[in-house]
Amino acid sequence: MTGGPWADVRIRSTRFDLRPITETDVTPRYLGWFASRGASNITQHPASLDDLRTYVRDRSDRTDILFLAIRSADTGQHIGNLKLEPIDRALSGAILGIFIGEEAWHGKGVATETIGATAQWLQAELGLRHLWLGVTEDNHAARRAYEKSGFVLAPCPLIPARPGILTMALDLVPQKRA
Ligand SMILES: CC(C)(COP(=O)(O)OP(=O)(O)OC[C@H]1O[C@@H](n2cnc3c(N)ncnc32)[C@H](O)[C@@H]1OP(=O)(O)O)[C@@H](O)C(=O)NCCC(=O)NCCS
Repeated sequence: MTGGPWADVRIRSTRFDLRPITETDVTPRYLGWFASRGASNITQHPASLDDLRTYVRDRSDRTDILFLAIRSADTGQHIGNLKLEPIDRALSGAILGIFIGEEAWHGKGVATETIGATAQWLQAELGLRHLWLGVTEDNHAARRAYEKSGFVLAPCPLIPARPGILTMALDLVPQKRA
């Protein structure tokens, strides 16, 4: 299934291409990401390829969810995912989640580069004004990546306060044209 409301979306950064994830991206390798150490920070863990396909399929037709596969622009390798869920038009914002599943790519600036390109796209194409996220206090890698991307600690209207969870926000501002 390759259609859906976001089928034509392409977000490009220097080293990566982002496009909506489809069921054909659901491979044993992608499923294997959930057995890695970093996956302990991911809320939902599929038990099988069928489960993971259902998770992807359930999000593919939603206008309030944009679920993107991150690929190396050079090789096409699927290295992680970036998800906006939900996109709330009334609040002009979205909740961001990111999972770099290929551990060889950790610490190489994938998060900062892809969050930056996505933030710019969301502002320019959808006119969104805010990105929000929740992160566990002890996820230092994620906190550092988010701070580097410009997120600051702030309450989020869509994430209830919970012990051990920090909420962060990034204001999206129009880019000046050269
Ligand atoms: C957290 C995660 C998204 C970071 O992605 P990344 O592409 O490795 O991050 P970047 O390379 O852009 O790193 C940004 C900063 O964080 C730092 N960083 C990366 N991994 C780190 C670690 N394990 N400990 C401390 N800092 C770390 C980087 O050094 C960099 O800072 P610097 O430029 O000052 O050195 C990735 O590790 C991941 O997907 N982890 C598993 C899932 C997860 O935790 N998702 C977030 C849930 S809220």
